[in-house]
Amino acid sequence: MTKNIMEITDLKKFYDNGATKALNGINLSIKEGEFVSIIGSSGSGKSTLLNMMGALDVPDSGKIVVDGINLTDTKDDLSKFRAEKIGFIFQLHNLIPNLSAIENVEIPLLGTSNTVSKEDDERAISILEKVGLGDRINQNPAKMSGGQRQRVAIARALINNPKIILADEPTGALDTKTSAVIMDLLKELHKQNNTTLIVVTHDPTVAQLADRIITVQDGQILEDN
Ligand SMILES: Nc1ncnc2c1ncn2[C@@H]1O[C@H](COP(=O)(O)OP(=O)(O)OP(=O)(O)O)[C@@H](O)[C@H]1O
Ligand SMILES: [Mg+2]
Repeated sequence: MTKNIMEITDLKKFYDNGATKALNGINLSIKEGEFVSIIGSSGSGKSTLLNMMGALDVPDSGKIVVDGINLTDTKDDLSKFRAEKIGFIFQLHNLIPNLSAIENVEIPLLGTSNTVSKEDDERAISILEKVGLGDRINQNPAKMSGGQRQRVAIARALINNPKIILADEPTGALDTKTSAVIMDLLKELHKQNNTTLIVVTHDPTVAQLADRIITVQDGQILEDN
């Protein structure tokens, strides 16, 4: 039996004094190494849910346990949790346009000293090579195509060797062909390392690649299959 890497119980998040129920009682378990896609219309709560999974946002009530760490228990060090366990790919890739590819990839490694080691550099270069950007490590995302930028964002998400990759619309800004390349890459990384991969998407073709498709509607799970 594979263990659950994530257990979510009755998770709720309200805005506007309760008028907007972004999450309205989510119950969900995800197994280690699973590839799950999350679909649902705009405003249904997908990004809110994903942000909670990565401890980037806190719920109003309910419980979320990820790899044995209770994210709703503030005694735990959540920045350590994020740095060690999670690779996040954002809806808008959030790269810094005027830093080079390698500098963007190394952002999660920066401590208070703002410097990285030679080993960090070597690791960043090997990951950039893995995503097919070995010849562009010193190029700025400002001068890259959408697919290349998204690959930098993936490399940045992988730099800490995370157990879980959370991707919010990783192919949202890409054409069909580039989108397929990016998803192949994510799927390969997930398979190679048994990384749990959770992808929010509007694209049915992307959603179908997963082992399991979860449909969110009005902050609740409508379907799970
Ligand atoms: N910071 C916030 N303040 C107020 N309302 C918010 C905030 N963040 C999200 N919401 C509301 O919560 C609901 C869920 O938003 P969420 O971003 O999770 O949707 P989504 O499913 O990711 O949508 P999309 O597909 O457009 O990205 C929406 O009604 C949204 O307006
Ligand atoms: Mg969203």
